[in-house]
Amino acid sequence: MVDIAVVGAGTMGAGIAESSALAGLSVVMVDVREEALDLGRHTIKKDLDRRVRKGRLSEEERRASIGRVSATTSLESCADSPVVIEAVVEDMAVKTRVFGDLEGVVASEAVLATNTSSLSVAGTAAATEHPGRVVGMHFFNPVPAMRLVEVVTGPSTDPSAVSQVEEMAERLGKTPIRVSDTPGFVVNRVARPFYLEALRLVEAGGKPGQIDAAIRGAGFRMGPLQLADLIGNDVNLTVSESLFERYYYHPRFRPSYLQRSMVEGGLLGRKSGRGFYDYSAEKTAEDNEIEPSEDVSLRVISCIVNEAFLALSEGVATAEDIDRAMKLGANYPKGPFEWVEEIGARSIVETLDSLRAANGDAYLAAPALRERATGTRPS
Ligand code: NAI
Repeated sequence: MVDIAVVGAGTMGAGIAESSALAGLSVVMVDVREEALDLGRHTIKKDLDRRVRKGRLSEEERRASIGRVSATTSLESCADSPVVIEAVVEDMAVKTRVFGDLEGVVASEAVLATNTSSLSVAGTAAATEHPGRVVGMHFFNPVPAMRLVEVVTGPSTDPSAVSQVEEMAERLGKTPIRVSDTPGFVVNRVARPFYLEALRLVEAGGKPGQIDAAIRGAGFRMGPLQLADLIGNDVNLTVSESLFERYYYHPRFRPSYLQRSMVEGGLLGRKSGRGFYDYSAEKTAEDNEIEPSEDVSLRVISCIVNEAFLALSEGVATAEDIDRAMKLGANYPKGPFEWVEEIGARSIVETLDSLRAANGDAYLAAPALRERATGTRPS
């Protein structure tokens, strides 16, 4: 009997298993590939060793944590687990197969959670005979360090499955927030303008160093172009393309032509040595920088706030949870609704209106935001 089972022992699966073990839970990791299990175990061990070196974990706790993790290629090992978290590759066909197989293995009351970041919980649940027990549990990378878990309710998800995974997230020391099954959930959706606006500014001739410096000046730990280079422009572009498609090609989510051309040209960022910055000769993003501009941060923050208001109006999550999600899941210095308080809705709407006049409906202010700015209901 284990407390939790994780299917897929890659970056996320191993991270979830490590968090479980650190929280004192017994966990089994399942993968189709032995090498993935070996690598997963190795990654966990390496991170636990680092914690011991830094004095954050005792030797005894390290040994006990390692002892709580088992690894196998047999899905049957999930049989006794009350919660199974799927973290296999982001491919609906693979995920639905895993869920179908899991149903034949687990107890009838077991909850099946998916860690998908861009597919729908509804689609995965539809492949099962009991869709009520399927729920999203979206962790953030690196899992042991990131506190947020987006708990995603699909159209058929039972409330009891939601509360069970919320409880599990809390046992793992995480902060769960409830989100509805919509593209990008909260964090990946509300964070999109952070990248897209910066990219549009570069397309219009802006300097990456200046744009990033402006955003850091507003309290963000990293600028969007620096971060895109770190994540990989290919990975960043794929997320944008997926959101654009899933929001039925709304212009707000239009990916950047420039970023696509950079990906096609192999300028992937740090991993390829060049992206928005040149990483050869030990240069860092800061080395390329010039003085910041205040307009840039107001533009980017206004678009983030607008997306947050749209998500709120669509019932994706509460304002409080959206703020919490952006601070814990994206390391934002403030939540979008905190920014509205600070900057003022009027100034944000004015920024959006002038962007709309110049660039079109991608900048249409959310009715609820305009209402906040004018104190009147939209006609
Ligand atoms: P990964 O590629 O590192 O690991 C996926 C693992 O699944 C591999 O070890 C693979 O062997 C295994 N696998 C494939 N088919 C399987 C099957 N039928 N049964 C058991 N194992 C199988 O991928 P990663 O990055 O860990 O992502 C996993 C999931 O988590 C994806 O849905 C991804 O979208 C999501 N996610 C990823 C984040 C990230 O930053 N990498 C963040 C949040 C969510």
